Amino acid sequence: MTSAAILTAAGSGTRLGRPVPKALVELAGVPLVVRAAQGLAAADCLTSLVVTVPPAEVGTVTALFAGGLVPGTPLTVQVVAGGPTRQASVAAGLSALAQDVDVVLVHDAARCLTPPELVRGVEAAVRGGHRAVVPAVPVTDTVKEVGPADTTGAEPVRGTVERTRLRAVQTPQGFDRLLLEEAHAAGAGRAGDERAAVSDDAGLVEALGEPVWVVPGDERAMKITTPRDLALAHVLLGHEAA
Ligand code: CTP
Ligand code: MG
Repeated sequence: MTSAAILTAAGSGTRLGRPVPKALVELAGVPLVVRAAQGLAAADCLTSLVVTVPPAEVGTVTALFAGGLVPGTPLTVQVVAGGPTRQASVAAGLSALAQDVDVVLVHDAARCLTPPELVRGVEAAVRGGHRAVVPAVPVTDTVKEVGPADTTGAEPVRGTVERTRLRAVQTPQGFDRLLLEEAHAAGAGRAGDERAAVSDDAGLVEALGEPVWVVPGDERAMKITTPRDLALAHVLLGHEAA
């Protein structure tokens, strides 16, 4: 039995606002999708990687990986067309997994500076018997729940959420393959039901009523969403090099 990752890179990157899909945007000369894949490879606990990309970019990204990922790592890379939503892209990745894969990590290419030790920690937690595992960091802002805005746009505060119990969730999220497949099948059945909309794979598992476990995340696993995030990633890279 082996562990694999689905690297989701099929988004367009609307909020980053570049003319190319976000995964192809370069950070210090290396496309985000390549950096993210190299981080997964360096964790040394995976045997295969399925990368989901915009359908028009399958050829380009396949060529990016043609020379292998990290010299000496035997990770096999398969590039497939993603879908119109992240959930559909993960589903496309799931159907491309090799038969012997029993542990799956789902990772955002946009979290391209995720350190290998975080990847290893999530994989080990799933191997250790936790069937759904998410890395997360404590929330540092005070968080308030609000009601509908009045005519001026001001929103009434309904309450303050107890911060010590809140976590901001990152990727890679790790799963027992059968559980993730079951969660996606159930999620696809609810597609179109706005109330059931979930923004991550763990949410689909929660919707099944199955337990999901949190392990410590890492600030470097931040997601690049806006131009400001890309600038921050440059700074973090500089710190690493120093
Ligand atoms: N993703 C995907 N397929 C989609 C949409 C998103 O594989 N149809 C991936 C993105 O490539 C990204 C990750 O899911 O690595 C997280 O999504 P997000 O940060 O929202 O990226 P984009 O959807 O590309 O950005 P935006 O929402 O600003 O357009
Ligand atoms: Mg998006």
